[in-house]
Amino acid sequence: MAKKIGVLTSGGDAPGMNAAVRAVTRAALSKGMEVIGIKRGYVGLLNREYEQMTARSVSGIIQRGGTCLYTARCPEFRNMEGVLKGKAVCEELGLEGIVVIGGDGSFRGAGDLSSVGIPCIGIPGTIDNDIQCTEYTIGYDTAMNTAMEMIDRLRDTAQSHDRCSVVEVMGRKAGYIAVNVAIATGAEAVITLERPYDLDAIAAKMIKTKTNKNGKTHFIIVVAEGVGQAENIAKTLQEMTSIESRVTVLGHVQRGGSPTLRDRVIATEMGYHAVELLEQGIGNRIVGLKDGKVYDIDIQEGLAMNKPFLDHRYDIFYDTAY
Ligand code: ADP
Ligand code: F6P
Repeated sequence: MAKKIGVLTSGGDAPGMNAAVRAVTRAALSKGMEVIGIKRGYVGLLNREYEQMTARSVSGIIQRGGTCLYTARCPEFRNMEGVLKGKAVCEELGLEGIVVIGGDGSFRGAGDLSSVGIPCIGIPGTIDNDIQCTEYTIGYDTAMNTAMEMIDRLRDTAQSHDRCSVVEVMGRKAGYIAVNVAIATGAEAVITLERPYDLDAIAAKMIKTKTNKNGKTHFIIVVAEGVGQAENIAKTLQEMTSIESRVTVLGHVQRGGSPTLRDRVIATEMGYHAVELLEQGIGNRIVGLKDGKVYDIDIQEGLAMNKPFLDHRYDIFYDTAY
């Protein structure tokens, strides 16, 4: 039975991380545990940068993007020396467990810390939804909604000018955001790393559509960040079709903003579950969503899983595109 736990956010921030920090803090306090908020991820752990959390420390943050605990990347934690230093700080502070909110890199650190005797629980917080063992990661819904709104705006101007708007969305190597956003914005094409793409075919379709009397004269092409070719794709399509093209890289706007209801609720459920595990002295687990329900899995097992791509949704996109 842990009596004192830590909570930290690590890696890239994601909208909804605050809701998770709030849930962890409030759930632990209501179970009679003490909570330490560690600043800037593993960097703050190694530097003893922390604050005692009270119910008030997490007031008014559920609706805010970013993370009130700040986040950072900590190269030192990638080797055992750093991990052992982290263990020593946990012992010094009397921490009997840590909730780590972050992505798979952060979970590797959490696994290492668990292996040296500090039970850690990972909560998936990343807009990319690229964590293998969970159907959902905190921030994904907010980021997709932000991207959707931005692309709706791009369509207005693309339409006015009869242009092609090539939009790069985030996702690191993963195309989950891209496929969903392409469907939701009625894009004309989506290009991801997971599926082969054919620019000749996309260009031919654009020309055919434009020359059709009742045809569309503007186009939205969503490109996943991992493809890394938005500029070239726009240039090539313009050369092939003679349709004027513009590139927009949505970038970090997708990481900010007030979290959606879905992100707030799932973050709260996951935070609560993480505390229930630590309360029982259980560590080395990742909390995730499986068949729509919160569950937990061993960290190493979870990280070794393969995540299916949205193949069916990708096919639906192309079967319902223009
Ligand atoms: P994310 O958690 O979003 O995937 P990173 O991959 O940048 O982000 O990882 C965040 C932090 O987690 C790193 O800066 C490092 O401190 C820690 N980390 C990453 N990979 C490992 C690893 N293999 N072993 C231990 N710690 C790691
Ligand atoms: O993992 C979240 C993410 O926003 C990715 O989509 C993107 O590739 C990366 O982080 C950007 O990282 P940084 O904020 O370090 O530029």
